[in-house]
Amino acid sequence: MAIERSFSMIKPDAVRRNITGAITTMLEEAGLRIIACKRVHMSKSQAEEFYAVHKERPFFAELTEFMSSGPVIVQILEGENAIARNRDIMGATNPAEAKAGTIRKKFALSLGENSIHGSDAAATAAQEMAYWFSGSEITG
Ligand code: CMP
Repeated sequence: MAIERSFSMIKPDAVRRNITGAITTMLEEAGLRIIACKRVHMSKSQAEEFYAVHKERPFFAELTEFMSSGPVIVQILEGENAIARNRDIMGATNPAEAKAGTIRKKFALSLGENSIHGSDAAATAAQEMAYWFSGSEITG
């Protein structure tokens, strides 16, 4: 299996509830290593830029409003099959459909306030990591 990197963002609902450590523990217990991490409070325009792929969706305004409503934790995860592994431990986007033992099943409040974002493919992982981190912030 290949060692990969993926991007992860712990969302404002989880930061507000002070459960970023509990979520990070689940990522680490799934075999993922945090090789870059910072806390940021993005502006509405940064949220619009980061989520530009969804700009035609009816929920775009709600999504970008929420993502800029408070601080988030952005992280780079590394490990075997990190992209798929991260998506497995996060669970389905809609917590009502997430499997037991996943982060969203345990912590997400709703489809919008679903506690964590993770890259869905290698190309988006590369884009999302580069959006938030410079090379010197990634420590391996
Ligand atoms: P995320 O993995 O961050 O990618 C885009 C986000 O949009 C998704 O998680 C959800 O939180 C959010 N989202 C998807 N569908 C809806 C919806 N119908 N209403 C509000 N937010 C949504």
